[in-house]
Amino acid sequence: MASIAPASETKCLLKLVVNDRKLSVVAPPVQRLSRVLREQLGLTGTKVGCDAGDCGACTVLLDGEAVCACLVAVGQVENHAITTIEGLKSRPPLFDRLQDAFLRHGAAQCGACTPGMLVSATALLEHNSSPSESEVTDALGGVLCRCTGYRKIITAVLDAAVLNTGPESAEPSCPTAGASVGQRLVRLDGKPKVEGTEIYGADEIPAGALALRVVRCPYHRAKFRFGDLEAFVAAHPGVEAILTSKDVPGEDCYGVIASFADQPIFAHEEARHRGEAVAAIVGEAQAIEELDTATFPASWEELPLLRTIDEALAPGARLIHAHRPENVLTRGRVARGNVEQALAEADAVVEGEFETGFVEHACIEPEAGFARRVGDQIEIQACTQSPYMDRADIAKLLGIAVEAVRIIPTAVGGGFGTKLDLSVQPFSHLPRGVCGGRCVWFIHASSPSWPRPSAIPHACAAAPGQPRTANCLRLISPPISTPAPIRLGGLRLRRAFRCMLPDRMRSRTTGH
Ligand code: FES
Ligand code: FES
Repeated sequence: MASIAPASETKCLLKLVVNDRKLSVVAPPVQRLSRVLREQLGLTGTKVGCDAGDCGACTVLLDGEAVCACLVAVGQVENHAITTIEGLKSRPPLFDRLQDAFLRHGAAQCGACTPGMLVSATALLEHNSSPSESEVTDALGGVLCRCTGYRKIITAVLDAAVLNTGPESAEPSCPTAGASVGQRLVRLDGKPKVEGTEIYGADEIPAGALALRVVRCPYHRAKFRFGDLEAFVAAHPGVEAILTSKDVPGEDCYGVIASFADQPIFAHEEARHRGEAVAAIVGEAQAIEELDTATFPASWEELPLLRTIDEALAPGARLIHAHRPENVLTRGRVARGNVEQALAEADAVVEGEFETGFVEHACIEPEAGFARRVGDQIEIQACTQSPYMDRADIAKLLGIAVEAVRIIPTAVGGGFGTKLDLSVQPFSHLPRGVCGGRCVWFIHASSPSWPRPSAIPHACAAAPGQPRTANCLRLISPPISTPAPIRLGGLRLRRAFRCMLPDRMRSRTTGH
């Protein structure tokens, strides 16, 4: 594994005790323990989701107590006992029972939170062999899970606690052939998730890989010009190249639904949303780590922005994309039944307008990966939910045949649709031509996930009373990668309408 520890702080020789092994590392004392564990010691079972003490994915034991390794400076833990998930296997039978219970109850789904959960549960059960449910909830409260809804995890820990007082562990098992329908299955990929050996996008950095930092627009909308990029490269030893839209050899447009695609890798002269990539800086990992992008030679002219759907749809509104008249991406109509008749015959009609808040998928795993040339192919290893769609988009962006692209998907630490889209992939493959074909590694700095434009659907509807609710619905949504409008049309909308009905009607309505 490559180390990308910053050199700007003074490095020291530090003595650590990790998983019962005494060892030394050279690192700045202020370096996060999580980085030392992952990048210097290769203990990637300790995950990093937020790097800010919020998600708990990085939980390790420090002298038997659960702590967030991203909040602990490595200089503070010299000669203290640090235990990661890799070290828990030396604590049977408790850890075996926890692992088995997680597998039996389906408590490890994407698995990104699982090491943090197992470490926290171990800390609890080593102090309290028979905790109540609320004690389990408290002990796990610092670790976020986006997949399970927590019930399966809490049940698994309680189950492991019960077994912990008995002599035997209940081994997870699969139903026998012929008796499988309706039976619980143990996930095929469950074992590496409960062992902390699963490989996610950020868990492999090939030795010697170059790193990449994206320069993003700080405004919601702005024109921009670059200054002397060559001088910037020359002034920063270790920086190899700067990439812009001019370096995209193929059709610079991608998106999860081909006919709606409108995202370039880099904005060209005008950025249309805050955070849109305008350039990428590629270089040696340490140089990229230490770079101050505030000195990047770009000047910005902030433009009036469109903040609401109404502003974007107003006559004469500035176009977000020149090829999308009226700022409308697509129109569609779904008709079923006779809505007018249903409304006319209804006992009550309710109308309302609703807006959802901004949505962030909040995957625990950051988007990360690397690209390299292998033979005649470009090989991209990254977290993705859709390797074949990635392959087609990358081939289009590069202007090469799909057969020349190979996508190696890692485990996905929470996707929820957001990892259907390309994220790190377009950036990491581009520098090949300008960096002597060296492997390039990239992780989105804004972990856990690059925020997407989120849904602000607007609905107008009417709902009559019994026997069935009829909905006449108009939904308007920004172009997004989430099917939020579809979700809004379901349960949430029916609930909203029910709240607006007169009391006498509420028990008589059903949603359809
Ligand atoms: S709490 Fe440490 S990575 Fe989130
Ligand atoms: S299983 Fe917990 S975040 Fe996915």
